[in-house]
Amino acid sequence: MLKATLPAHVPHPFSPAGRVNPYPAYAWFRENDQVHFEKFSGWWFVASHAGCASALADACFSASLGQQERTREDDLPASMLMSDPPDHARLRGPGALLLGPAALRAQTGGLGDAVSGVLDGLAGRDEADTTADIGEPFAVEVFTRLLALDAGQVPAFTSLARRVSVNLDPMGGPEAGQAGRAAVAEFSAFMDHHIQVLQAAGVDCPLVHLAADPRLTRGEMLGILSLSVVGGFLPLADLVSHAVHWLTPVPGLFASLREEIPDGPATNRDGGVVDELMRLSTPIPFTARVTRQETELDGMLLPASARVLLVIASANRDAAVFERPDEFDPRRSPNPHLAFGGGPHLCLGAPLVRWAGGALLRELAIRFPGLRQLGKADWNNAMVPRRLLGQRLQLR
Ligand code: HEM
Repeated sequence: MLKATLPAHVPHPFSPAGRVNPYPAYAWFRENDQVHFEKFSGWWFVASHAGCASALADACFSASLGQQERTREDDLPASMLMSDPPDHARLRGPGALLLGPAALRAQTGGLGDAVSGVLDGLAGRDEADTTADIGEPFAVEVFTRLLALDAGQVPAFTSLARRVSVNLDPMGGPEAGQAGRAAVAEFSAFMDHHIQVLQAAGVDCPLVHLAADPRLTRGEMLGILSLSVVGGFLPLADLVSHAVHWLTPVPGLFASLREEIPDGPATNRDGGVVDELMRLSTPIPFTARVTRQETELDGMLLPASARVLLVIASANRDAAVFERPDEFDPRRSPNPHLAFGGGPHLCLGAPLVRWAGGALLRELAIRFPGLRQLGKADWNNAMVPRRLLGQRLQLR
């Protein structure tokens, strides 16, 4: 049954105004039409937490077909997000060799050094740009350790990471799409060569373990690395901007992260500062699926081959699940947000984001407890990821 269309005064989430602030549209969908079919785009928008969570976990909703619809390309590298169960498990299992808790523990000192490396660079400064001076150098430091890169490779990696990131935005246009695919091919060649050098030198590290896993072809292994950088680099680099945006308007809240974030690995999702930031900002606001057969979702019958956008940014503000959904609450527990997805494709980088991101925010609050925003940052107008641009900080 089709219901009303979005009223004219509420900007569509894909329109220029809606891209900057899609939340009024999401609220309208949740209140009026939680599984909303849009005639002109041919997509179903799923806005409720219950609908998004159940579709993410349901094998009827294919991620592989969803990715193809999202990108309309068939030459993207094979990756676990382009696959469905049962083959998905074959690709995801080895991914844990690089991103699972044991692999992260092997880097404990390394992640601490990544934080100090970035924050030591701010010594003596009064002002900084959240992304250029803190967030991006931090993401580079983390990936440098994860991918066992040496200092001489950092400039090439940084440039490639920026360039491959355009692949995250499905509405970037054909030119950006072409540039993004070329960058992924270059990144894969860069990593292929780098791994050969590590293997020849007998280096023992999580990346070499991943590369040696017999369940993966070389192309699949390189696809996992591309997916991690495409999906993880910008959202990781932006974590500190989101923290500044949500916390600094309330006096004392940012400084409280010194106590709020535990020292050491944080893998428990409930009550975590990083999870609550992810819930409120949801850098990847939606993900695509295609139904394999006719199926019911949230009381609506979807046909086979329906193209479905799971609007997880909307699910994360659903008052049916979250009390005071628009407010930051570092102790929210439980916090069943969907910012890292859910079901079989739950973000494999989530433990890394919680751990490394938590360590960065904690140390930032220890060193600069009085940090505040200068002026007001703008939300970007790309669809994915949702970012804050041009955010300046007074550090002390
Ligand atoms: C910082 C914030 C991040 C956010 C908000 C995020 C979000 C997501 C989401 C929503 C998905 C599921 C997509 C879907 O089901 O269609 C996903 C999957 C994935 N993410 Fe992340 N991600 C982040 C960081 C990272 C990082 C740093 C890495 C790796 C270093 C990473 C690696 C992956 C991988 C490999 C998958 C695919 C899992 C699978 O298909 O089984 N992510 N991420």
